[in-house]
Amino acid sequence: MAIIIKSKKQIEGIRESSKLAAETLDYISEHVEAGVSTEYLDDLIYKHITERGAIPAPLGYHGFPKSSCISLNNVICHGIPSQETILKDGDILNIDVTTIVDGYFGDTSRMFSIGEVSAEAEKLIQVAKECLTLGIEQVYPKKRFGNIGFVIAKHAQAHGFSVVHQFCGHGVGVEFHEEPQVHHISPKKSGARMKPGMIFTIEPMINAGMAEASIDESDGWTARTVDNQLSAQFEHTLLVTNSGVEILTQTSL
Ligand code: MF3
Ligand code: CO
Ligand code: CO
Repeated sequence: MAIIIKSKKQIEGIRESSKLAAETLDYISEHVEAGVSTEYLDDLIYKHITERGAIPAPLGYHGFPKSSCISLNNVICHGIPSQETILKDGDILNIDVTTIVDGYFGDTSRMFSIGEVSAEAEKLIQVAKECLTLGIEQVYPKKRFGNIGFVIAKHAQAHGFSVVHQFCGHGVGVEFHEEPQVHHISPKKSGARMKPGMIFTIEPMINAGMAEASIDESDGWTARTVDNQLSAQFEHTLLVTNSGVEILTQTSL
C-alpha cells in the first residue's frame, strides 16, 4: 500500500471533515472544567458531531468504546472517557477528535489545563505545541518525512523531555490510519518524499520523563508513561500543497 495522493474531490471532503473536527475542539473547550467527567465531555462531542450528520471515528474503531480519546496527566494517548474520571484543579488533558464526514476523515487534538497547573506541566504543554509547529514547518514538496521527527526530537530533548516512539502520525483522509507512519523521532532526510496532495497527521507525544508507553492490560487501550510522569500532545491534519502546507484542522481560536 502506497501513500495516497488525494484527488481534488477527496481534498475537499477531508477539508470539510477536518473543519468539523477542529470546530468540535473549539466547542468542547467551553465545557472543560473542574468537576466534570471525561464521559460527560465525550457525550457532548458525540452529540455535536452526530447532530451535524457526521460520525465520530473512534466509536467502534477496533472496538474502541467512545467517541473521542481523552488522556489525562500521565496518560499519553487513547484514554477512554469515563464517568469515573472527574477533572480537577491542576490536571492537564488531551482531547483527540476524529470525524467522518461523507466518508472522509479529519483528525486533531489539543491540550487543556484545569485551573492552576504546575510550572512543569505548563512548560511541557508549551514545548509539545512548539514541537508540532516545528514539525509542520518541515512539510514541503520533495522533502523527506524524516525531517519532521528530526526537528521534533531535537526540540523536545533540548528542553529535557522525551519523545514517544510507540505511536506515530499517519496518513489520513480516506481511512482513519493510512500510510505513511509519520515518526516523531527520526533521522534527518530519512523516509519517503512528500508530494502535493498527500494528507497526514503530525501528533507528537512528549513526555516529562521516560519515553516508554505501557498499555493498560485491562482495557487494551490506555497508554500511560511507565514512570507516571506527565505527557502532552497536539495533533493537526495537514495537506502538502505545491508551495508548502495547509493546516486543515486550524481554527481561529
Ligand atoms: N485519534 C487517534 C490518532 O490520532 C487515534 C485514536 S484510535 C481510537 O491517531 F480508537 F482510540 F480512537
Ligand atoms: Co491521528
Ligand atoms: Co487523533
